[in-house]
Amino acid sequence: MDWWFDPRRTYDDNVRNGPFGPFDGHPPERDAPTTPAERFLGHTVRRPFGIAAGPLPTARHCAAAFSHGFDVNVYKTVRSRAMPAHPFPNTLAVRVDGDLCAEPGVTLLVDGDLDTAHSISNSYGVPSPDPDQWQPDMAAAAASAANGQVLVGSCQGTRDGDDTALIADYARTAQLVAETGAGAVELNLSCPNEGTGALLCFDTPLVARVARAAKERIGDVPLVLKIAYFRDDDALASLVRAVAPVADGIAAVNTLPALLVDAAGRQALPGPGRETAGVCGASIRWAGLDMVRRLARHREASDEAYTILGVGGVLTADDYETYRHAGADAVMTATGAMRDASLGRAVSALAR
Ligand SMILES: Cc1cc2nc3c(=O)[nH]c(=O)nc-3n(C[C@H](O)[C@H](O)[C@H](O)COP(=O)(O)O)c2cc1C
Repeated sequence: MDWWFDPRRTYDDNVRNGPFGPFDGHPPERDAPTTPAERFLGHTVRRPFGIAAGPLPTARHCAAAFSHGFDVNVYKTVRSRAMPAHPFPNTLAVRVDGDLCAEPGVTLLVDGDLDTAHSISNSYGVPSPDPDQWQPDMAAAAASAANGQVLVGSCQGTRDGDDTALIADYARTAQLVAETGAGAVELNLSCPNEGTGALLCFDTPLVARVARAAKERIGDVPLVLKIAYFRDDDALASLVRAVAPVADGIAAVNTLPALLVDAAGRQALPGPGRETAGVCGASIRWAGLDMVRRLARHREASDEAYTILGVGGVLTADDYETYRHAGADAVMTATGAMRDASLGRAVSALAR
C-alpha cells in the first residue's frame, strides 16, 4: 500500500515530512479537468467530492489532494491553542465482519495488517499547532484550490472551564479559520477522543449556542456542523430543527466508537483513556448512508435547506454514487483516500 498519510509513521512525522508516496511533491496529475458545474455551499465546483477532516494536516497535503482531483477538501481540525497528538500508534487495522454495530461497548480485535484493512482505528486526540502557525498554512491551503475547488477549514473548541468558555472558544477559533479565506468553516462536534459518551453533538441546546456564536463571528462564510451517528432519530430531528437557522451544512458521520483489544485481549492502544477509539472505513458506510437518508428526510419534511455532506466508508467511485443517490449533496472520504490516491480522479471521471 502506497500511503501518502502514513499510519505507520507518527503524526508529527506525517506533518513534518508528508505527504508521502503518490502525493510526494504533489506533482499535478490533472486529467482533463471537469468543468465546474455543481453547487456546493455557494461555490461552483467540479465535483462535490474530496477528503474529509483528518488526513490533510498541512497546506502541502491539501495542495496534493487538489492536484489529484479531490475538489472539496477539509483541512484537519485545528484549535485555538497548540495540542500534541496522542502517543503512537494511532491508526491500527481492525477486524470487522460486515457492518460495525453502533451500540456502545462493541469490542474489536486489531489484527495489524494495515495494508489490507478496509476498516481502521483513529485515535489522534485532535492535535493542533498554535493559530500563529496554522492560520498562514491554512491560508496557503485555501489559495492552492484551483477553479472549481474549495478548501473547508475544520476546527473545534477546547473545554477548559464552563459551557460559556467552550462556546467562546469555538466561536473565536471559527473566526480564525474564516480569516484564512477558507470557503467554509466546519465545526467538529463529534470528536470521539474526548469521551464518546458525551459527544457535544448529542447536547442539542449547547450545539445550538455554539453554532449561533460561531455564525455570528464568521458572517457570510458557510457554516458546516460535523456530527456523529445518532441512534435516536427524534434526537436527530430536534438537533436539525435547532441548528437549521444558522447551519449551512451538516456533515455525517464521524467515526463509530469501539473497544480495541489485541490477540491477548489487552487494550490495543497505549495510555489511559484510549480503551475506546473511533473506527472508520468500510464497516461504517452503512452509518453514513443511514444518516444521509435521515437528514434528507428531515430536510424534506421541513422548510430547511441545509447542504448534506455524506462521510463514512467511501472507498470507490460507486460508493460516491450510492451516497449521492441517498441524498448527499457532497461526499467525503478519509480512509478511502488514504488507501487510494486515485479515488479523486475516479470520481472526476464519472459521467454526469
Ligand atoms: C487519520 C484520520 C484522522 C481524522 N481526524 C479527524 C479530525 O481531526 N476531525 C474530524 O472531524 N474528523 C476526523 N476524522 C474522521 C473523518 O473525517 C471521517 O469522519 C471518518 O474517518 C469516516 O470517514 P471514512 O470512513 O472515509 O474514514 C479522521 C479520520 C482519520 C482516518
